[in-house]
Amino acid sequence: MRKYKFMIMYENIVKSRMSWRRFDHCVNVCRVAGELAKKYGANKDKAMIAGMLHDITKESSLEYHMNIIRKFKIPITKHDTISKGILHSITGSTYAEKVLRIRDRDIINAIKYHTTGREGMSLLEKVVFVADFISEERDYQGVDRIRKCAWEDLDLGALAGLLFSINNLIKIKIPIHPNTVLAYNDIVIHRRRQFNSEQNPPFGKQNL
Ligand SMILES: [Fe+2]
Ligand SMILES: [Fe+2]
Repeated sequence: MRKYKFMIMYENIVKSRMSWRRFDHCVNVCRVAGELAKKYGANKDKAMIAGMLHDITKESSLEYHMNIIRKFKIPITKHDTISKGILHSITGSTYAEKVLRIRDRDIINAIKYHTTGREGMSLLEKVVFVADFISEERDYQGVDRIRKCAWEDLDLGALAGLLFSINNLIKIKIPIHPNTVLAYNDIVIHRRRQFNSEQNPPFGKQNL
């Protein structure tokens, strides 16, 4: 009951901070994060909370992001300021931690790394990272393949999402955040070792 009350509260706060369209996205990410958590053995409540909150500062201005960064003395690198798209993950996790007083590190990190990924992502982080790519309203070209990968194998889904991002960033000549490269390498190295020892193709049946 207490958990339910918190979820309603988070949902109302998220709703008050964004357009209807983005709120719909957050609700869908929350839902699919819960489903992925159930399938892959992550904590479903945490996945749904992180999914609901992941874009909480997405529609805030650059000034808002910079104010949050200054106010809470968040260390940032030149790569963190590549785009507002990266900043909202950092300020969103700070909002969840400092304003909503969420103490669970895994939820905070799932929000913080939902855009870039990172090396050594936890199961919950991967669930939220992948959920953001495949939420119900997503209809970009290639989403079906990422969905298929995600339901076959969570690492495969994360890898497909990372490749999608990296390819798009290269196409439009936007720098790639080092965490994205590290996340990609991490999964590829891990899976190559695993599959090489099984003498199977590195990424299962999916052609990435
Ligand atoms: Fe986001
Ligand atoms: Fe999102």
